Amino acid sequence: MAAGWLRLLAVLMLLLQPAAAVWPRPQVQRSPRGGGRCLLPPGRFRFGHAAGSAVGPGCTVLEAAFQRYRALLFGAARPTENEPVPSTENPPQALPCTQLLVFVATPDCDGFPNLDSKESYKLSVSEGSLLLSADAVWGALRGLETFSQLVGRDQNGAYYINKTEIEDFPRFPHRGLLLDTSRHYLPLRAILETLDVMAYNKFNVFHWHIVDDPSFPYESSTFPELSKQGAFNAMSHVYTAGDVQAVIEYARLRGIRVIAEFDTPGHTLSWGPGAPGLLTPCYSGKHPSGTYGPINPILNRTYQFVTSLFQEVSSVFPDFFLHLGGDEVDFTCWKSNPEIRAFMKQMGFDEDYRKLESFYIQRLLDIVSSLGKGSILWQEVFDNGVKLRPDSVIHVWKTSKPYMEEMADVTKAGYQALLSTPWYLNRISYGQDWMAAYQVEPLKFKGSAKQKDLVIGGEACMWGEYVDVTNLTPRLWPRAGAVAERLWSNASVRNLQDAYMRLAAFRCQLLGRGVQAQPLYVGYCENEFGGF
Ligand SMILES: *[C@@H]1O[C@H](CO)[C@@H](O)[C@H](O)[C@H]1NC(C)=O
Ligand SMILES: *[C@@H]1O[C@H](CO)[C@@H](O)[C@H](O)[C@H]1NC(C)=O
Ligand SMILES: *[C@@H]1O[C@H](CO)[C@@H](O)[C@H](O)[C@H]1NC(C)=O
Repeated sequence: MAAGWLRLLAVLMLLLQPAAAVWPRPQVQRSPRGGGRCLLPPGRFRFGHAAGSAVGPGCTVLEAAFQRYRALLFGAARPTENEPVPSTENPPQALPCTQLLVFVATPDCDGFPNLDSKESYKLSVSEGSLLLSADAVWGALRGLETFSQLVGRDQNGAYYINKTEIEDFPRFPHRGLLLDTSRHYLPLRAILETLDVMAYNKFNVFHWHIVDDPSFPYESSTFPELSKQGAFNAMSHVYTAGDVQAVIEYARLRGIRVIAEFDTPGHTLSWGPGAPGLLTPCYSGKHPSGTYGPINPILNRTYQFVTSLFQEVSSVFPDFFLHLGGDEVDFTCWKSNPEIRAFMKQMGFDEDYRKLESFYIQRLLDIVSSLGKGSILWQEVFDNGVKLRPDSVIHVWKTSKPYMEEMADVTKAGYQALLSTPWYLNRISYGQDWMAAYQVEPLKFKGSAKQKDLVIGGEACMWGEYVDVTNLTPRLWPRAGAVAERLWSNASVRNLQDAYMRLAAFRCQLLGRGVQAQPLYVGYCENEFGGF
């Protein structure tokens, strides 16, 4: 291993200026034999709509993207009409490309992306012309990102792009990143910046694990006491309705879905103070001990509360899916409570508390489905035999059993699956731990082609026990890029040395964009102080 690294390092030293390579790697990229390139004069360069495109200047998603990418490419340089073309110092084959034309086949610009959104695109850089075409605006966004990563600067400081043809599409439709805003509150700015970097990586789902045991930062209009009593600080450490809308719109403009998780019946301690009677009182012998357990599943008013809360949540978050959690329900408190035990007897549940959990989850699933929403649940819900709805998605995260066996079992039972077990990026170790995440193959389990089709993707997770705004960005990037490429690129793209080169170059681009991404290993970037 050490010798391998020395060799790799030697190769690296030779490559002082690695060619711009796209991360995650496109499905198909052809570069013409003769080479050749296009100059991009920053003053005159513009993004435009191709003739016949179904969208035009009224398309906010694209117009906003044009502005972002102009700023990323050329910084503050404003378009001017009379900028001289720096032709004398450049090779004769370098023609200027003054515009990137975007063709989109379908007109929707005002909607939200969803699981079925088309993200494929084609990018053609040829003699004096740049064309990006896509079925939908979401694909055009992915293509603009690819374009921006391909632009380089030569010794004279001129912007250029090498001739190339790219045909690209994602391997999996659900490529998510989980942030946990309960263990530590993340300021709105940190969430928005993370959405930017997600878009650079072509991630398309922000899984917002918004509340949990330690704090309840979501300001509910129906139950304002939940955050008043349950946030770390009810003034400064909360997400107002305006904050939530800002996150949803910022994400939409980048082709990212926002899936909120309100995890129940466990992981709800912070809900208790603002919702008296919701949690189960734990007993010590014959008397309440003063501590609380999971949501009390035996009371009718519990379901009234849950219905009202999820009514609100399903109208606030436009995505079809809600994440309902359902993980790590601790039965000790339920077992200690005499009323719960009496209910168990009455229902004929014997001593099987998984049946009580199922009783709760099934009612929750009915409530959420009657609100017109789909459900994603952590794997315990499946493991504990809860009767699910056919369109439920099971989120695999546990290590107690090999996760590939779980993927096989979930899909064999006919459910859609998401993988996260090998992608808990909050866990760190000395060395290049991104490699383990990169080498995962999500479909490497025993099962039919039909089973493999049920794997809709996966999510990188950044749990917040040891992560707040101070260390979020370097811990996430570029490590989460490993997951991004695994979920976007062809399964055959798995050469570690090639990935190392491209990921190291991409990380340098991130620094150039002001993202404090940590290094992979020994080396340097030209612009490594760009973020300061
Ligand atoms: C363009 O191609 C040349 C020749 O292959 C290469 O040296 C250079 O790094 C490439 N530039 C970019 C920005 O990819
Ligand atoms: C709870 O509601 C059910 C019907 O939904 C009813 O049969 C039962 O009596 C109610 N229990 C209490 C304690 O109100
Ligand atoms: C993707 O990889 C498979 C092998 O895993 C290969 O057969 C296929 O041709 C590749 N597709 C593309 C577009 O490169």
